[in-house]
This record gives sequence, structure tokens and C-alpha cells, in this order.
Amino acid sequence: MGSITVLFNKSKGVINPNIYGHFSEHIGGVFYDGLWVGEDSKVENIRGFRKALAESFAKIHPPVLRWPGGCFAETYDWRDGIGPRAQRPRRVNWWYNHDHRVESNQVGTHEFMDFCAMTGAQPYVAANMTSVTPLHIRNWIEYCNAPAGLTTLADERAANGHPEPFNVKYWGIGNENWGGGGRMNAELCAREFLRFSTVCESLPGDMTFVACGASGHDIPWTRELMGTLAGKGVTPRAVSVHYYCGTAGAPQSFTEAEWYQLLHQANYMQNIVDDHRAAMDEFDPQRRAKLFIDEWGCWHKDGSGPSKGYNLFEQQSSMRDAVVAALTLNIFNNRCDVVAMANVAQLCNNLHSLYLAAGEHFVETPNYFVYDLFKTHQGARQLELVNDCGAFGGGEAFRRAARPLPRVSVSASEAADGSVTVTLANTSMTEPIEVALTGHGGAVAGRATISTLAADDPHTCNTFEDPAAVRPVSFERDFADGDRVMLPAASVTAVRITDRKK
Ligand code: AHR
Repeated sequence: MGSITVLFNKSKGVINPNIYGHFSEHIGGVFYDGLWVGEDSKVENIRGFRKALAESFAKIHPPVLRWPGGCFAETYDWRDGIGPRAQRPRRVNWWYNHDHRVESNQVGTHEFMDFCAMTGAQPYVAANMTSVTPLHIRNWIEYCNAPAGLTTLADERAANGHPEPFNVKYWGIGNENWGGGGRMNAELCAREFLRFSTVCESLPGDMTFVACGASGHDIPWTRELMGTLAGKGVTPRAVSVHYYCGTAGAPQSFTEAEWYQLLHQANYMQNIVDDHRAAMDEFDPQRRAKLFIDEWGCWHKDGSGPSKGYNLFEQQSSMRDAVVAALTLNIFNNRCDVVAMANVAQLCNNLHSLYLAAGEHFVETPNYFVYDLFKTHQGARQLELVNDCGAFGGGEAFRRAARPLPRVSVSASEAADGSVTVTLANTSMTEPIEVALTGHGGAVAGRATISTLAADDPHTCNTFEDPAAVRPVSFERDFADGDRVMLPAASVTAVRITDRKK
């Protein structure tokens, strides 16, 4: 048996809702026949967006959605995506040499903003820093954010159907500029960031320009980027980091060794976050620059999704991916003083997706249900914990500094209404574990809703043929401080306590 103590008097602060962010790129099947089916489609839609998906997405309260890339952003011209859809150009896009698909531009700025509005997500626009001028991006920002009637670009936005500004707060300046975004070094990237952000900052509005940070644990990149900016007296408002984990095995047929290999890789997110913050602190001890993990997730072998390889990077997601999602979100919750945004990649028909869709078919993957079970953490006060459930060693086979994988990954929070959420992931592929939940400085007691996401076989995925193979099962009971919860092998559980007894 394990035990977890919730410390009601110890907190790292409020869990930024943006930790529960998402990412949707114009790549493969994310938009076309994924999120977007078009207004004339036989598939039920809301102004062209797949209705079942939009409604399902709204239910998990997505705080923020990043778009249009990814790498796609680095050859994107925003002007291609405005105006009458029938007249928009078709373009060879960044991914063409991978899948020979042409960008139709049927989804552009107005459509994306409409999807955000219908699902409640704030837009986070990743702007091209590699192949356009700063003025070009400045004009996009002005087009999106200028008050109605103020400028010619605001009038053009109105003529295209939206007089009121979109008020986009988050603007990525470049994407992966160490790679697909121009193969820059960190110093050049910092100089380009200065060029773009300086001219864009002169526009009205409260905007956060996100500087392109490192790939994974490339701490020297972040140090050089921050150092170059600091040399010009600039602290960016946010710095991004991208981190993916993956094993050679297919998502539905991994071995037990690959189960632990992937979880150890995912657990390395702790090092990524802590070591990045430490490097940023060297130049920004007051922590004015926020850390955004604006792409993360599992990246498995291609071709395991329903399109069998047609949709670039589309993959299935099993309970293993759901446990990775829970482990990662628990890591972010427990570092809510450092992680200000995180976007799982990507929303539909791609890596670590919440949805798979094609034509009439639409399924929620196990990852979706993790976001559903965790949603009450958004905006709640994080609570520190003592986790006495043990750990698995062996992560050092992946990286020398890797920390032990917690036997039970956990985070806890208290919402403004006094309800408490404790989210737990059993990281053992084969063994269940019983865990006692006790409070210190308060009681884990009241009316509990216990929801568990599990499957008899951890390889289980939701498919078009069997869309409900993995679903959470919930029940309610009275909960007394110190009561136990049974966590099945390879599972994710949320315990939500309402009507608290002190
Ligand atoms: O998510 C797929 C790709 O992964 C993105 O375009 C890129 O930013 C990253 O390398």
C-alpha cells in the first residue's frame, strides 16, 4: 500500500489554466477532415468545424490553442488565409515534401478565431520569423488587434466579417528556429526576436511575444538566448521549450520494457523544467520571463492511426499515452510557479492527439479523458504533497540525470469553492496499488467523486470500430481522511472532494 499526504498549508501558488493548452498545426489531418470538414460537408458542422469535436473540446475548457504551426508557420503568409474562401490560393507548404499535400487555406485567421470562440480557447498565434519581414507580422497583428475603424487593416478585417478586434494576446515569434525555423544559432535567433518584437511592440494592446527556446534539454541554447537578449536590456515575456518522448515500438504493441522506457522519458520533463528555469534565473532572477512548454507529447512510429500513414504523424494513443499525459500534467501542476503554459501536440489526427477523425468517424482517445479528469485543477491553488508510494529506478538508462519514476504520479489542488482535486497515475504496467489519502493542515474528507480511466490491457486504444474501449468510470462515496483509493495497473484516477469536512 502507498500513502499520500496533502499539505493544505503549503502551496506553490495558482495553477495557470494555460498549462492545459493545446496545439493545432496545418499538417496532415489536423485541420482538413479533422477539425475542419467545410460548411457544405455531410458531416455535422458548425460553420465548417466538425460539430462533435468542437462540442467535446469545449467540455474540457481548453484555455488556449496554438496555431498555425509548428514548422508550418515558417512558410505561412497570413494573407493567403483571409478573404473569400473560394479565392484563396493553394500553396506548397512546409510539409509538402513529407506528404505531397497542398495547403488549401480554407482555414485562415477568421476561421481559426471562430473555432477558438466556439470552444472557449484563447488563440495563441505562432508567427513566421524565418521567411517574412517584421512588418508583415506587424500587419497581421494590427489586422487582428486594431480597434474597429482605427486603421485600414481594421477596416479590411471588418469587410471580411469581423469588425471587432480578435484581441490575440499570445504571439510566438518563430518556431524551432534551431531547426525548421531557419537553422539559426541561439544568438541569431535572439537578434531576430529583437528585430520582430521591437517593431511589433509598438502596436497597442497587451501582447506576450514568445521567444523560441530550446529543443528538449538544450540548456546552452536557453542561456545564450537569454544572455543575448539581456545584453540588449531585454527580458522576453515568455520563452518556449519543445519536448517529445517516444520509443521505437508502435503505440498499440509496446513491450513492458518500452512502457517504462517511455514513462522515464516523459518523467524527464521534471529536469527540463527545473534546469530551464535555473538557466533563465541567471538572467532573470525576478522571473519576469515565463516558461511555456508550447509543444510536448509522445511521438511514436508513423502510420498507426486510422488513415494508415496518409495523415502525416497521425498515431493511435493507448493507456500508455494517457498515463504519460497524466504524469506530465502532474509535473506541470507541481511546478505551477514556473510553468505558465503548456500545449500538448497535437489536437487531432496527429501526435498524442485527443481526437481521431475521418469523414463521419470521430473518436475521443484516452488522452482526451485525462484532460477531462484534470480540468478542475485549472485556476485552483496547488497543494504540496508527501508521496510515500515508492519509485522505479532505471531512468538513467535514458539520461544520467533522470529522476526516479514515481510509482504513483500525483498532484493536488483546492478550488475557490473549497473542493479538492487529487489526480493520480499508477505508473506500473502490471500491478495495481492501493493508496491512502490523508490531509495535513486540513482533511481530505467530504463527498468524493472517484473517476478512473483504465483498461484490462494497457495497449487498448479507442478506434472507429470500438470508440468506447477506454472510458472513465465514476462513482460517488463519502470519504474520510485517510481512506484508501484503489488504482488499477496502468491507470489514471481523479478524486474530487466536495462538501468538504474540515
Ligand atoms: O508537432 C509536429 C512538429 O514537431 C511541429 O511542426 C514542430 O514544431 C515540431 O518539430
